[in-house]
Amino acid sequence: MKFNDIDFNKWKEEDINVDSLWIYNEREKSGKHKNHYHGNFIPQIPKQLIKRFTKKGDIVFEPFMGSGTTLFECENLERKYIGFDINSEIIEYVNKNMEDSDSSKYFITENDSTNGNQSAENLNFGLGKFGKQKFQLAILHPPYWDIIKFSNNEKDLSNAKTLEEFLSLMKTSIQISYDFLEKERYFAIVIGDAYKNKEILPLSFYMLHLVKKNFDVLLKGIIIKNIEGNRGKIGANNIWKYRAMKSDYYIFKHEYILVFKKQ
Ligand SMILES: C[S@@+](CC[C@H](N)C(=O)[O-])C[C@H]1O[C@@H](n2cnc3c(N)ncnc32)[C@H](O)[C@@H]1O
Repeated sequence: MKFNDIDFNKWKEEDINVDSLWIYNEREKSGKHKNHYHGNFIPQIPKQLIKRFTKKGDIVFEPFMGSGTTLFECENLERKYIGFDINSEIIEYVNKNMEDSDSSKYFITENDSTNGNQSAENLNFGLGKFGKQKFQLAILHPPYWDIIKFSNNEKDLSNAKTLEEFLSLMKTSIQISYDFLEKERYFAIVIGDAYKNKEILPLSFYMLHLVKKNFDVLLKGIIIKNIEGNRGKIGANNIWKYRAMKSDYYIFKHEYILVFKKQ
């Protein structure tokens, strides 16, 4: 099955990263990408996933849209888009940025993506707008539990009270993404780890285990992504190095991109 537009007559020229280690020196800032939102991801992540796993006109779904990074890439790459977020302020921000865009190509709405019924209803509506029943790629970039608090809404995943609650809510939103994803297509979870009670809490490993245990998928990629100088550490690298050396921990900068194929 052909699931992308890669031209194999010119495959050497394609900007597709097939390595499991993605190191980027800086965030792409062209077009609508403004680095406005604390907790956003670099545009290179959705761009790579969209180009590798979708064709022009395919639909990309995102249950945790944030500031629209993936939507803006979908617009650049001529893919359709459905995005949800629980935070109405960020929906408004994205809507403002899309004022001059073709509204027939995307659907975004306020939605609690840990609520199965509400998500199914909104997904059916969004897909109906494109005359489809399934989408072709899902990108899930949830809060890394409570390391950044996104809102005071109690349904916001960053307000989950325990790790168990966080993982169980994530299971529901993965279920929805899985159910509406076309067979033999891909979904990716972008997640970093946390540091709690003097040790690493490997959220990414828990997430990987959760998906493999509960869903019929093939694990196609464990990508480690690093960007130099992000998260306000620019210019402060030496302080972090000093603190780490005085103590016994390692500074983590990387995040994981877990890529699964629905069976
Ligand atoms: C890590 S951010 C996504 C950032 C996005 N990739 C970007 O580049 O801007 C996670 C998002 O999940 C949203 N969120 C948290 N809990 C949610 C829930 N239950 N349903 C839908 N969205 C939720 C937050 O409001 C936040 O915008």
